[in-house]
Amino acid sequence: MGESYPGTSSHLPERIALIGFMGSGKSTVGRLLARALGYRFLDLDALIERRAGRPIRRIFAEEGEESFRRLETEVLLSQAGRRRVVIAAGGGAPMRPENQSFLRSACTTFYLEVSFAEFLRRTGTDPRRPLLQRSREELRALYHRRAPVYATLGRRLNTDGSSPQRLAGRIAALLDPAADHLPPGEGEE
Ligand code: S3P
Repeated sequence: MGESYPGTSSHLPERIALIGFMGSGKSTVGRLLARALGYRFLDLDALIERRAGRPIRRIFAEEGEESFRRLETEVLLSQAGRRRVVIAAGGGAPMRPENQSFLRSACTTFYLEVSFAEFLRRTGTDPRRPLLQRSREELRALYHRRAPVYATLGRRLNTDGSSPQRLAGRIAALLDPAADHLPPGEGEE
């Protein structure tokens, strides 16, 4: 905060985080938002994969979820010194207390809300997401356990029926109402 960059507003937060359930569009919206603000986009899952040298499904298969979660926290917290970044956090990241502190104190956080039906529709059985091997009932329980936690950490934006462009535009406008980062989406209220 308080730092001035040519061509940008001085009051934009240094770190913007997007949280939400799988399929909420964190990576797609995050990339568009970063482009609109002239920020760098960081996908937490991709950073973890780079750090581990293998895909997430292999980390889960070979070392288990706990090990993935430890790595996730380590990689997330190590972004504390980054500036002018949009971070898309994996769907489970906001559940750990250390990560919650980071999302609250080091970032301006937005919760991209997706309905359970829309999550199922968007993700299908994506083999890169190990959690999708769980039963529908387990996923539903996980969804309902996480949703209230997400809501305490960030400003909530519903994503059902909204395009990623429009969502990125809404976030940019919330962060910096005076700037015209993106053309408004169709039917913008
Ligand atoms: C997870 C979500 C995934 C990834 C991992 C676990 C979760 O990220 O971090 O498969 O626990 O919800 P996305 O939310 O980007 O799919």
